[in-house]
Amino acid sequence: MHLSKFEILAISIGILIAIQPSYIHPDEHFQSLEILAQLFYGINGTIPWEYDLINGARSFVPLILYYGPVYYLLACILHINNPSILLYCVRLQHALSFLLITYMSLSYIVPNSKACRSKAYVYVITSYVTWSFQSHSFSNSIETLVLLATIATFSMQLEKSTQNYYLLSIFQGILITLGIFNRMTFPAFVFLPSLMVFWKYYLNHWRSFMLLILTIVVTSFIFILIDTNIYGSSIYIIAPMNNLLYNVSVDNLSQHGLHPRYTHILVNLPQLIGPGILYMIPHHKNQIKSFFMSLPMLSIYSAILILSLFPHQELRFLTPLVPFICIKLAKCKSPIFFKIWVMFNLTMGIIIGVFHQSGIVDILTQQIFYADRDINVHIWWKSYSPPTWMYMNDNLTVSTTNFIDDIERIDNIDFNMHENYVIDLKGSDLKLTNETIWNFMKNDAMRKITLFYPSSVESKVLQILNNTHIQHKKIYHTRRHLDLDHFDINDLSTFIPGFSVVELQYA
Ligand SMILES: *[C@@H]1O[C@H](CO)[C@@H](O)[C@H](O)[C@H]1NC(C)=O
Ligand SMILES: *[C@@H]1O[C@H](CO)[C@@H](O)[C@H](O)[C@H]1NC(C)=O
Ligand SMILES: *[C@@H]1O[C@H](CO)[C@@H](O)[C@H](O)[C@H]1NC(C)=O
Ligand SMILES: *[C@@H]1O[C@H](CO)[C@@H](O)[C@H](O)[C@H]1NC(C)=O
Ligand SMILES: *[C@@H]1O[C@H](CO)[C@@H](O)[C@H](O)[C@H]1NC(C)=O
Ligand SMILES: *[C@@H]1O[C@H](CO)[C@@H](O)[C@H](O)[C@H]1NC(C)=O
Repeated sequence: MHLSKFEILAISIGILIAIQPSYIHPDEHFQSLEILAQLFYGINGTIPWEYDLINGARSFVPLILYYGPVYYLLACILHINNPSILLYCVRLQHALSFLLITYMSLSYIVPNSKACRSKAYVYVITSYVTWSFQSHSFSNSIETLVLLATIATFSMQLEKSTQNYYLLSIFQGILITLGIFNRMTFPAFVFLPSLMVFWKYYLNHWRSFMLLILTIVVTSFIFILIDTNIYGSSIYIIAPMNNLLYNVSVDNLSQHGLHPRYTHILVNLPQLIGPGILYMIPHHKNQIKSFFMSLPMLSIYSAILILSLFPHQELRFLTPLVPFICIKLAKCKSPIFFKIWVMFNLTMGIIIGVFHQSGIVDILTQQIFYADRDINVHIWWKSYSPPTWMYMNDNLTVSTTNFIDDIERIDNIDFNMHENYVIDLKGSDLKLTNETIWNFMKNDAMRKITLFYPSSVESKVLQILNNTHIQHKKIYHTRRHLDLDHFDINDLSTFIPGFSVVELQYA
C-alpha cells in the first residue's frame, strides 16, 4: 500500500476525529457499548427496548463477534474499567478495520482500473462520514464492513464466472447471515446485486447455490440458538424477524418519529455527500448502461429504493453506501469539485465528528463522575441520553421520561433514592424539571443532587435556581459541546456552546 502525503494527512485527520468525544446519536451507545458493558463488566445501566426480552429485536451475535475480542482483552485480561479507554479502543478498531476492509474490497470491486481504485479510496478517506459515523459504534458501521465484503465476493464470482468457488459461497453465506442479524434491512443493500449474481453466476453453478443456501440456514440457526441462550428465553428468539415485525407497524414507528418517504433521497443523501450529489446522475448516454449494471451502483439504487419504503428514515441508515458513492465520484475529473468536496467534509467533520453533543462524553470520562464510586442523584436535562454504561456502576438505576398521550412525563421514579440514580429528563419542559428537582430536595434537606445541562438552556436553569431555598455550585463546565437541538431565534443565549454541571442542595 503506497500512500501519498495527502492520503496520510487525510487518514491522520480521520483517526484524530475518531478519538474525539463527539456523540452523534444515542444508538451508537445504547445498541452496542451499553449492552457489551453489561455483558462483560456486569454493570447496571440501560436496557434499550430492542434488547428487552419482550421484544427480542436485536441479535447479540454481531456484537460479540465484532467487539467481543477487544472487550475480553480490556475487561478480563487487562482489567481496565476506564470508559474513555474502552470507548476510544472501540473507535480506533472501527476506524482501522474500515480503512483496511475498504482497501481490500476495492481491489475486487474495481479490479480493472488501478487509477480509479486509488481515486475512490481518496474520496473514502476524505469523507466526513468515514471520520465520524464510520468510527462510531453504530450497527450501521458494522453493516458497511459486511456489505463491502459481500459485494467483493459477488465481484469475484462475476469476474471468473466459469469457475466453482465452494469456499467463497460458504463465506458469502456467513456474511449475508451476519448482515441480516446485524440489521434486518441488510437485504435492501444486496437485493439488486444478488439478482445479477444469481443470473450471471449461480444459474450455472447450482451446487454453489445449494451450498450458499445451506450455509445461510445453518448459520442462522446457530445465531438463533446463541441469541435464545443469551436472552434466556424459553421460545426461539429470531431477532431480525422480531425487528421486522416491529418496524412494519407504523404505530410502533411513530414513537420514534415518522419521516416523509423522500427524506432519504432529498435530505439524508445530500447531507451525507454534499456536493457529490451532483455526480450521482449519469451525464452521457453511453455511461447509462455501465452505470446501472455495476454492482456498487445496483447496491446504491437497491438500498435507497427499499429503505425509502420505511417511514422511519435516518441519515445513518445510508452510511454503508458511502464507499460505493466514492467509486462513482472517482470518475469525476474536476479539481475544483475536489476542493469543494474537501471543504464540505472538513466543515462537517468538525461539527459532527468533534463538537456534536461532545460535552456529555467529556463529562463522563472525568474521574469525578465514574468508576467504582457511589454517585448521588444525577439529573440530565435537554441533552442526548447519557450513555449510562460510562458510569461503570454496579448499582445504577436509571429512570427516564416517556410520552403518554403526547405529554412528556416520568413514571416509576423513586424520590426516596439517594444514591446511584440517573434521571434522564430528555427534552422535558421547565415545569417538569423544576418539579423533579424539588421532589428530590423536599424530602431531605441534607441531600445533594447534581444537574447536567447544555449552556443553551442556561437561562431556563437560572430561573429554577433563582430561589432562596436552593444553594448551588457549578462543579464542571466545558465549552466544547454543540447542541443543535435547542436553537431559539428569540433567545440568542440558546446559541451558546458548552455544557455545565451544578450541584444543588436545599437550604
Ligand atoms: C426499526 O425501528 C427502530 C426504532 O425506530 C430503528 O432503530 C431501526 O433502525 C428501524 N429499522 C429500520 C430499517 O427502519
Ligand atoms: C408494536 O406493534 C405491535 C403490533 O402493532 C404490537 O403488538 C406491539 O405491542 C408493539 N410494540 C411496542 C413496543 O409498542
Ligand atoms: C454496590 O452495592 C454493593 C452492596 O450493596 C456494595 O458492596 C458495592 O460496593 C456497591 N458498588 C458500588 C459501585 O457502589
Ligand atoms: C443490577 O442488575 C442485576 C441483573 O441485571 C439486577 O438483578 C439488579 O437488581 C440490578 N441492580 C440495581 C441496583 O438495579
Ligand atoms: C419550582 O417549584 C417550586 C416549588 O414548587 C416553586 O416554588 C418555584 O416557583 C418553581 N420555580 C419555577 C421556575 O417554576
Ligand atoms: C429572580 O427572582 C426575582 C424574584 O423572584 C426576580 O425579581 C429576579 O428578576 C429573578 N432573577 C433572575 C435572574 O431571573
